[in-house]
Amino acid sequence: MDMEKNMMIAVKIKEVRAQVAAWKKEGLTVGLVPTMGYLHEGHTSLVDKAVSLCDRVVASVFVNPTQFGPGEDLETYPRDFEHDCALLAAHGCDLVFHPDVAEMYGEEAATYVEILSEMPKQLCGKTRPIHFRGVCTVVSKLFNIVQPDKAFFGQKDAQQLAVIKKMVQDLSYGIEIIGCPIVREQDGLAKSSRNTYLNPEERKAALVLSKAIFLGEKLVSEGEKDAGKILTAMRERILQEPLARIDYVSAVNGVTMMPVDKIEGEVLVALAVYIGKTRLIDNFIVKG
Ligand code: PAJ
Repeated sequence: MDMEKNMMIAVKIKEVRAQVAAWKKEGLTVGLVPTMGYLHEGHTSLVDKAVSLCDRVVASVFVNPTQFGPGEDLETYPRDFEHDCALLAAHGCDLVFHPDVAEMYGEEAATYVEILSEMPKQLCGKTRPIHFRGVCTVVSKLFNIVQPDKAFFGQKDAQQLAVIKKMVQDLSYGIEIIGCPIVREQDGLAKSSRNTYLNPEERKAALVLSKAIFLGEKLVSEGEKDAGKILTAMRERILQEPLARIDYVSAVNGVTMMPVDKIEGEVLVALAVYIGKTRLIDNFIVKG
């Protein structure tokens, strides 16, 4: 294991297990922040939250091949591990787990964790049918390796957060899942590693996502309860941007991810929009 500003870097599963075991022996609590790297303030907000709630914090940096479909951006997914380490160390992370694909998935790996209800087929699951199976599998492995007390996920990937909560419940993981708010650029665009794919013209056009989100939030705050009306207004706002192509704009139950007609109880209003070739997501939650 290397040391970097008191932060350890582990590439092997057994190194992580040994370190976490030593911490647990001391009675320390452990938080886990799973990431795919190319970190920004969205990720570091999770690390900050973890540092505030746990004695020791582990972050994983692993571009997980099983959650990318054919033709998706696995090969081009941005990477900068040195910069990631500098950010993580600055935010008080204690250990970075940075395995290679062979360490995480031996050649013979054939076991997946998959939720068989409709939940992972909604929203992003429609265009990314194997995505949540890959996410559940890798997060489940990370939970088994790190055995954290708490794990931290961003509300930015709202369906992912719901899927992880469901997996933790169904598989009786004794891990508390903590959802953290969306961190945005100053102009409103939700921070994402994929924003780096946008050229300057597309970067401007991408603002239409947060504009539509803020419009939807405004309509809800004015008392609109008809999900159809809210979604229509949001879609019309997005269609004003010629570079934007809608994947979905949906209102769903905040726990099950199934579509709703009325804004009542906990509702997730979520969208995915292509700006050029780049698919971006954003959402807001209405608490019941
Ligand atoms: P990644 O896209 O790197 O995101 C890692 C975590 O950071 C996720 O929980 C995500 O929701 C959170 N995050 C990203 N952008 C955010 C923002 N703008 N505000 C708040 N949180 C944000 O999500 C994944 O990686 C992977 O699917 C993973 C869970 C690591 C499994 O491979």
